[in-house]
Amino acid sequence: MSKTIKVFAPATVANVACGFDVLGFAVDAPGDIVTMKLTDKPGVKIVAITGDGGRLPLAAEKNTAGVAVNAFLQHLNIQQGVEITIEKNLPLGSGMGSSAASSAAAAVAINELLNNPLTKEQLVPFAMEAERIACGAAHADNVAPAIMGGFVLIRSYEPLDLIKIPSPENLFCTVITPDIELRTEDARKVLKLDITMKDAILQWGNLAALIAGLMQNDYALIGRSLQDVVVEPMRSMLIPGFEEVKQAALDSGVLGCSISGSGPSIFALTDSENIAINAGNAMQKALHKIGLSGKIYTSKVNAEGARII
Ligand code: HSE
Repeated sequence: MSKTIKVFAPATVANVACGFDVLGFAVDAPGDIVTMKLTDKPGVKIVAITGDGGRLPLAAEKNTAGVAVNAFLQHLNIQQGVEITIEKNLPLGSGMGSSAASSAAAAVAINELLNNPLTKEQLVPFAMEAERIACGAAHADNVAPAIMGGFVLIRSYEPLDLIKIPSPENLFCTVITPDIELRTEDARKVLKLDITMKDAILQWGNLAALIAGLMQNDYALIGRSLQDVVVEPMRSMLIPGFEEVKQAALDSGVLGCSISGSGPSIFALTDSENIAINAGNAMQKALHKIGLSGKIYTSKVNAEGARII
């Protein structure tokens, strides 16, 4: 009988304020679980998806897990039958890397079933192909940390150049996911294509300093650098209560706060678990005040990324 494998891949916070499309990190939970086995009949088959309310496609060429596995098999020129079951725990259109978690888990699962011909880093391009069908852009700032764990910087897309960035041991993340949906594809459409030199200077200063702060365990520098003058001003208009939620987080003493990925989730980083929990409660209260509710997730940075369970 063929071996069955289960892989968990975590939610991710992409952009991290100043790093649009070039920086993301993984959190501990929630995450998606992909179960996979090899079969004799060539072709990738999604046999079941749970937790998505019937909204995700079973057709492998339209499903992010199926696309990642097909891209992997094509790259290695392998004719192989594969059966996939997806347990969707991440809400769709939440800004927590929902499409990425499934494709990341699928890429790690097929690699493991075929005795790991590739490294984790080498799996990222296949999961990026899945992002292309999910939102029209093959961005790596969710899939790279979902697979590799920790903070991952994308120095370049062509050629793909991924750099794992160490982060302080006591860095905690709070994410609030409002009960509204925002498709990444739509959140990318609101972005202006040109920015001013003044904004560019602010943004690359902050991004470089954020990387320095992470590597030097300098929490104050991390806090000063968590500013986004390019994307947040445009996208925050799509997120009801964004300013109030951000202010509530900042008033609770977090280092910084911004949109998680393409939203509507909002994330904050802190150097204390207590502040992370208090900030989550304050952010939720702010959301309640405008008649919305949201789910809070608090965790450390997940250094491992996708893992076999
Ligand atoms: N960098 C992507 C975006 C992340 O902001 O559109 C999507 O989660």
